[in-house]
Amino acid sequence: MMKRLVVVFAVVGFGLLTGCESGPKKAEKSVSWSESMQGLSQEVKDVLPFVYSRQTSYTAKEVESTRTKLQSFARVAHKISPEMGQPFLGDDPMVKFSLEKMSQDVSRADKALSMGQVRYSKGVMKTVMGHCFRCHSVTDVGSKAHWQVGRFTGLSLSPLEKTELLVATRKYDDAKKLLESSLLNADYIQNQPFDYEAALKRYLVLTVRLKPDPNRASETFRKVLDMRALPYYLSQKVEHWKKSLDFWGQDKQKINPSLNGAKKMVRKARGSQSFEKDHVADVEFLRATSMLHNLLMTKTPSTTKAQIFYMLGEVYEVLDELGYWGLHETYYESCIRETPKTQMSSRCFRRLQESIYLGYSGSSGVHIPPEEMSRLNSLRAMALPEK
Ligand code: HEC
Repeated sequence: MMKRLVVVFAVVGFGLLTGCESGPKKAEKSVSWSESMQGLSQEVKDVLPFVYSRQTSYTAKEVESTRTKLQSFARVAHKISPEMGQPFLGDDPMVKFSLEKMSQDVSRADKALSMGQVRYSKGVMKTVMGHCFRCHSVTDVGSKAHWQVGRFTGLSLSPLEKTELLVATRKYDDAKKLLESSLLNADYIQNQPFDYEAALKRYLVLTVRLKPDPNRASETFRKVLDMRALPYYLSQKVEHWKKSLDFWGQDKQKINPSLNGAKKMVRKARGSQSFEKDHVADVEFLRATSMLHNLLMTKTPSTTKAQIFYMLGEVYEVLDELGYWGLHETYYESCIRETPKTQMSSRCFRRLQESIYLGYSGSSGVHIPPEEMSRLNSLRAMALPEK
């Protein structure tokens, strides 16, 4: 309550200072995304010692004060509207997806803590940093957080976790440098091979999408390939990525960041894969997402938008384990809503349905919860053209 009052005063005060007639509303609009982001970053800073410490048992008092922080985080996250992100990210369903997941996860972490599930609560909070990463790895325009991750002492951070925090606070250069040294650490490969692989992929995202620098990434991967500790299955992927980066670095013929350019990229990627979720073509897929996200920042007609959503869905299905957790289904759904009862929406529905069926399949068959089934049915009615 106190906090809200302060915000109202600040906004009104700003309106008065600038002598702005139409007052608070306008001022609120132009500053609020940045402010909300700084607000989020403050919340992250407040919960950091809880999330990344090794401590596993807490007194009732400590639990209570941590829950107060988590609840404040959830409130701040919940208040950010996706529309406010439009000037930076355009009409991109990823924005709403990320903001919603973020609020839900923080609330889940709070609930878990209230039931004494400390480890789980911390784990969920770590995935929250992945939501910051997802958006922040699409565009690096804008500002940084006002605090330094490195100033915190006594935290137990894996290189991957530290990278995510650096990107959450938008210290991109620090994140890349940290990865470049961690990826050459043999102990890291041996002790945490899965974490290491995730770090490799984060590095790829950062170097392919933000201020792309294929030569720098290729050089890093050359050194990674020299590591004797590197498992064979990983070296295979890294070799492919390096090849793609080298080709890109030498490619004089720049591919235009257009819908056709993205289509070309996806076709090329598909051509080098041996199975649907094969990761050998992640460089091409990431380059395609970069073009497609950028297109969404410009004004595009519905039919084009639906196509972009379809392609983003297709690509994020492959890139899913990179921390996109079901983002592809959001794109398929947006595609259906964008141009209902068309061939495009039918294609999107087909992929959405398959993905949902797969998601609920197990050794005893497919068990789709009734509410999910009825959601799927109404999307089907919206998507398929009448016969
Ligand atoms: C929906 C996408 C999205 C999510 C989720 C997101 N951000 Fe951001 N963030 C952005 C964009 C776009 C910018 C660049 C525009 C800007 O500077 O405000 C940004 C900027 C920032 C800034 C700089 C703000 C400024 O202008 O001074 C900080 C700090 C920040 N984010 C922190 C965070 C943290 C911490 C999280 C996670 C807890 C997070 N963000 C989650 C999209 C997102």
